[in-house]
Amino acid sequence: MIGDKKVVYSAVQPTGVITLGNYLGALKNWVKLSEEYLSIFSIADLHALTVRQVPAEYRERALSFYAQYIACGLDPEKSIMYFQSHVHEHAELAWILNCFTYIGELSRMTQFKDKSAKHQDNINAGLLDYPVLMAADILLYQADYVPVGVDQKQHLELTRDIAIRFNNAYSPTFTVPEPYIGQAGSKIFSLQDPTKKMSKSDPDANATISIIDSADLIMKKFKRAVTDSDSFVSYDEEKKPGVSNLLTILSCITGKSIDTLVNEFEGKGYADFKQTVGECVCEELKPVREKYNELINNKDYLYSLIKQGAESAHFIAQKTLRKVYKKVGLTQI
Ligand code: TRP
Repeated sequence: MIGDKKVVYSAVQPTGVITLGNYLGALKNWVKLSEEYLSIFSIADLHALTVRQVPAEYRERALSFYAQYIACGLDPEKSIMYFQSHVHEHAELAWILNCFTYIGELSRMTQFKDKSAKHQDNINAGLLDYPVLMAADILLYQADYVPVGVDQKQHLELTRDIAIRFNNAYSPTFTVPEPYIGQAGSKIFSLQDPTKKMSKSDPDANATISIIDSADLIMKKFKRAVTDSDSFVSYDEEKKPGVSNLLTILSCITGKSIDTLVNEFEGKGYADFKQTVGECVCEELKPVREKYNELINNKDYLYSLIKQGAESAHFIAQKTLRKVYKKVGLTQI
């Protein structure tokens, strides 16, 4: 709670691309949430350093992500949008919280196990400590709600445990955050392997639609989307995952029910169907791409927003950190 408003907090690592799946599954809901709550959103650029990044590319991508979030409708005047690395309290609170987190808890995290298997040559301490930095993100802003997908649920549970542990050891200091389970955004699958989630880090560019892909590229990717050997449009996640995924995308964008869409495509083949889905997606993403281009070509303006975001975030973060330093007995000057 800040003032009389509940706080909803979220962050994204600036890696891979922001996909149509992120847009339909999470971002559109996030924009709605930000109208009701004080929404605080960060580019988690410290988190993504647990994996090696190419510095120049990384810098550019983080900026691009920031602009893309605004282009999707997040309003930096109403919400707080900032870069994690611009607010030094994140790293500082993470240190304190490290001293309230057990190695056993961290090494049990599913994501740690997966990531260490994937990056065997670089199982660094940051990878293990990742959830503590995430707890610091959330707790610094006294967040009431954190919208999380299944992959981050365990991290949020740990955040709650750490907050409760700290509050019990001293006195109430942190708001214990709840997962935000809103109306679930639809899950969008890969266009090349529709049994897998559309992932922002999929190396196969044909499998995902970036929200800033050109119209031509979007049409091409839908033309190549994997379907099946039938020739009728119907919804069956098990037997027709590709076609079902395209139906979900179309339904999300048009607001029409799956049944209505299936009826509309009766007697039509996959080529027509894919053409329509492609065109709808192009139409939906056109204003996003235009707004994005405008922002990315106006770097001064973009940096002024980033700076303002950092200041607003810092104002809140330093209050919490000061309280924490005092409670644990650090000398105040
Ligand atoms: N770990 C999250 C992810 O990979 C990103 C993240 C960092 C985050 N800090 C957060 C999400 C705080 C929610 C709240 O998706």
